[in-house]
Amino acid sequence: MVAKNPPEDNPAHRDDVLTVGQVADRCGVAPSAVRYYDEQGLIVSTRTSGGQRRFNRETIRRISFILAAQRVGRPLSEVRETLDGLPRNQTPSQNDWSRVSTNWRERLDAQIEGLTQLRDRLDECIGCGCLSLDRCAIYNPEDKAVSLGAGARYLLGDSADGLA
Ligand code: FES
Repeated sequence: MVAKNPPEDNPAHRDDVLTVGQVADRCGVAPSAVRYYDEQGLIVSTRTSGGQRRFNRETIRRISFILAAQRVGRPLSEVRETLDGLPRNQTPSQNDWSRVSTNWRERLDAQIEGLTQLRDRLDECIGCGCLSLDRCAIYNPEDKAVSLGAGARYLLGDSADGLA
């Protein structure tokens, strides 16, 4: 995202202007990542008369926010939505971060619960190998027969009688 009135036009702001390489170094990312975030509108750049990108120092905090989001598996579309909710060029405040990270934690808890259930269903498959679309715990998570034990219960001789 390119802003009008680049801050480097104002001599008082020149020390606050960073190049792509400087931002990349400070954030520990590749310069291509900085350009990508810019092209995706996640950070804001200005352009020199030669067309080179320049960033203000707040960009570092915005990229830190993006990296934190990626670490917990949040998609860039969600990061953009969050950042779009902030005034232009503003970085997430402590309150913003607290609110967003609380939300992410709840999502992580839900993901962990889902993965735990999936892992437990996968346990039913170990040593079975039926891969039955009707009976396998992985394909058929609502399978009532899973309560009878591991494996393809009907093939093992169990009956569906009495199952709720
Ligand atoms: S392979 Fe999944 S229950 Fe048989």
